Amino acid sequence: MFFNRRNFLRSATLLAACSLSEIDLLAAKKQIDEHSGHVGVDDETYWKNVRQLFPLDDSKSYLNNGTMGPSPYPVIDAVHKGMWRNEYDAEYGGYEKSIEHIARFVKADKDEIALTHNVTEGINIACWGLPLHKKDEVILTSHEHVGNALPWLNRQKQHGIVVRTFAPGKTAEETLNNIAKLINKRTKAIAVPHIPCTQGQVMPVKEICRLAKDNGLYSCIDGAHGPGMLELDLHDMGCDTYATCSHKWLLGPKGAGFLYVRKGFQDTLQPYFVGGGGDKGNWDVTVDPAVMADMRPTAHKYFGGTQSLPNSNGTIAAIEFMESIGMDNVQARIKYLGKYVQEQLLSMDNKIELLTPTEERSYCGINGFRIKGLDSRKFMVYAMHKDVRIRFVPENGLDSLRVSTHIYNSKADIDALVSLVKTALKEGI
Ligand SMILES: Cc1ncc(COP(=O)(O)O)c(C=O)c1O
Repeated sequence: MFFNRRNFLRSATLLAACSLSEIDLLAAKKQIDEHSGHVGVDDETYWKNVRQLFPLDDSKSYLNNGTMGPSPYPVIDAVHKGMWRNEYDAEYGGYEKSIEHIARFVKADKDEIALTHNVTEGINIACWGLPLHKKDEVILTSHEHVGNALPWLNRQKQHGIVVRTFAPGKTAEETLNNIAKLINKRTKAIAVPHIPCTQGQVMPVKEICRLAKDNGLYSCIDGAHGPGMLELDLHDMGCDTYATCSHKWLLGPKGAGFLYVRKGFQDTLQPYFVGGGGDKGNWDVTVDPAVMADMRPTAHKYFGGTQSLPNSNGTIAAIEFMESIGMDNVQARIKYLGKYVQEQLLSMDNKIELLTPTEERSYCGINGFRIKGLDSRKFMVYAMHKDVRIRFVPENGLDSLRVSTHIYNSKADIDALVSLVKTALKEGI
């Protein structure tokens, strides 16, 4: 993996954010490169070294990865190098390699991956490409991010489809029952998040996709928080589409994403956004309806035009970074910290309302909660002023808080949050 911190040290802005010596950093990197196999979830020395590979300020607790994941140095370096290559070459191309890496990472075929700029774009491609008609029903949760709400609501407005919602249950079984109750003869698709942005519950997506298949429905998953938090096997999951990004849990470049479209589904999902690269590369294209027969028979038909080499290189570096630690180790550490969040919040004399299920399979790196008697939005601002970054959750009128924990976090970050909650409860905000 390419890694050169000297490049960063040349940048005054980044230098300001770095608190470690180059020697510490190279030692941290060496530990990761030399390590293979199992890492203890509580091996604080190892995870501290991982943290050193991020240009983060040690006086802050970054607990909002669900919005934006900071990139480690190797990713920043790869993006930087990609820009230089663009300027030297002044050519198209080079981005194709990232598709192979993405496919390997999510256990899909490279012909099933379309590059996008974010989750929303992938959801729009999936939503608009489905053959839906007036009065056809689509099932969403009542906990959607605007990125998975607006595209379907727009089709409701434009084409008269009907959006129906259910509330995620406290257990996987309850969630599945809540979905099943909404299925009727007009239902055509289930379009839910793998992990809702509100309280981070890990939804039983494999069973949801099975339920969809058994009822002849399409399954379109909003995978914003999947890659980089959970080990993914999209073939095993069985979804028709999975839209996600590099800039959250994958810790990759910002404004980069991808959409998985199952091979056997690509004749059903129509491409409405087409352009150069999505065809078979006929530079001598003529404006003739016949050229449409030349669209690629792969997910490449869902995207076209100039692509970002820096972002593609950065995505490859992010995947390699995750793989160098091991996605099994990453997921286990994230879950370990997620459990610690739950334990700490629940230990506070009934002062906290935890919104995320404690069922073992239904939580991981995001927890949602309310502090009884305190205004959530005010608490977020209060915490931000004390260098603890969490998110306020206004979605669906929840008026709650969200805390995300990733591999660059430690128990000390969570302790800092808990201590603020205790002070706020005692002294007010
Ligand atoms: C569950 C969920 N879906 C969709 C999105 C939209 O992501 P993007 O901004 O990459 O389009 C987000 C962003 O936070 C999200 O949390």
